[in-house]
Amino acid sequence: MSAGTTDPLGRATSMLGGSFTAEPHPCTHGTPVTAKPWVGAPGTVGTIAVIGSGKIGLPLALQFASHGWRVHAVDINQALVDIINSGVAPWGGEPNLPELLAEHVGSGRLRATIDGPAAVRDADVALVVVPVLVRDDGSIADKALVGATETLIAGAHDDLLVILETTVPIGTTRELVAKVAAKSGAKVFGCFSPERVLTGQTFRNLAAYPKLVGGTDAASLARATAFYESVLDAPIAQMQTLEAAEMAKLAETTYRDVNIALANEFARVADRHGIDLSEVIRAANSQPYSHIHEPGIGVGGHCIPVYPRMILSTDGDLDVIKTARAVNDGQVDRAVDAVAKQLGSLKGATVAVLGLTYREGVRELAHARGPLVADALRERGATVLGADPLLSADDVAALKMTPWDGSANAQVSAVVVATADAAYRTMDFATLFPGLKVLIDGRNACAGAKLPAGAKRIGFGRPNGVAAQ
Ligand SMILES: NC(=O)c1ccc[n+]([C@@H]2O[C@H](COP(=O)([O-])OP(=O)(O)OC[C@H]3O[C@@H](n4cnc5c(N)ncnc54)[C@H](O)[C@@H]3O)[C@@H](O)[C@H]2O)c1
Repeated sequence: MSAGTTDPLGRATSMLGGSFTAEPHPCTHGTPVTAKPWVGAPGTVGTIAVIGSGKIGLPLALQFASHGWRVHAVDINQALVDIINSGVAPWGGEPNLPELLAEHVGSGRLRATIDGPAAVRDADVALVVVPVLVRDDGSIADKALVGATETLIAGAHDDLLVILETTVPIGTTRELVAKVAAKSGAKVFGCFSPERVLTGQTFRNLAAYPKLVGGTDAASLARATAFYESVLDAPIAQMQTLEAAEMAKLAETTYRDVNIALANEFARVADRHGIDLSEVIRAANSQPYSHIHEPGIGVGGHCIPVYPRMILSTDGDLDVIKTARAVNDGQVDRAVDAVAKQLGSLKGATVAVLGLTYREGVRELAHARGPLVADALRERGATVLGADPLLSADDVAALKMTPWDGSANAQVSAVVVATADAAYRTMDFATLFPGLKVLIDGRNACAGAKLPAGAKRIGFGRPNGVAAQ
């Protein structure tokens, strides 16, 4: 497509950020009336225990407090509980969190505690948002959920609404609620409602995305709907079954993983044929039935690479999902192969890996690509320097890399950029690494970087991309 003054595909840019823009809904809640016990009457609020006060649980707790609920923010981490109770944000990067925390700790509406059973005993609603992961062998690592279940059992009482927001394999919530009821002897309501927000945009996403709600029975669905209507400005979508709500989260995330894998395969085709895939994507996505994602060095974080494997944990015979995982994980080796090809050999080479968290701006290392690239480079004989704007030198050393302090280094002959961090997009690599021969642009984001004469920038699905090396 020729470069013109106007771009007819301008509205059909990357689908990776979403196929449509979901605008936040304005808050239409009036001043609520406190009810004790809270039984779901419109316009009323009660007391909630949020079990797990991490990156998602704490913003949720604040969302509930700002809609009038009294909140116990429960966590097993005493240091985190102390920080929350001091009114100071435990981490940065979440707009509005510091202000809301100061306000609601200050007013006494939110209080953190490690005494989960007491919090649940005092609450009308207990909402669980602790991590569940998948081990390398495919089994489910649910230690945190088992702990949260014990807390629920110890504090459960009749009419408690138990909500699970943690992403889980299909069937988990019904089992958990039945266990709580059987072991505590209490008649509880049960609900699953997937948390669909992205850290760093939590409050905006909460106001924008329809809230999917499934209940263990009709009464539970009604009670959970009443709860979410009292705390959210977004529409509430009642699902026919609890299991459908569980599957919706697994489906939307697996959709992304599979489509990123497809984009990564398209990138290999484009690389081999000298085609710019970004133009192909914009062209293909200019009608409503194509939503091609962006290729890159792979998928990190504790969501997208994990949830397809949660589906496989209950339904192991699914080929596309399995293959997509392997394709996305294989991008690291493609990047390292491209470095090796450009340098002739990795033995004795000095390579800098920049961008070590799973994505720019989020201090999360789960399944992050950068450290995996570093491991592969080291295994093949390279000396690896590493840096990330969100990590200290000690953090980088713990990842088995020599921390790069940002000063010029003539030894470095290759750089792999594994996140789209602003720091690297326009970096002057020519001055910093005068011996540089190749920059692997893992997120196709470094078009503005300055390279020494003769050095190559190699991306994914770009003419001169990794698969063509
Ligand atoms: N982070 C995201 O972007 C995101 C987005 C959507 C959904 N989610 C869902 O939210 C879950 C939690 O994610 P997060 O980012 O908040 O994790 P996190 O690691 O930041 O926080 C989890 C918290 O739970 C606490 N915890 C563990 N076991 C506990 C127990 N038995 N009782 C009380 N607290 C306990 C931990 O100490 C930690 O503070 C994820 O597993 C996922 O299902 C996360």
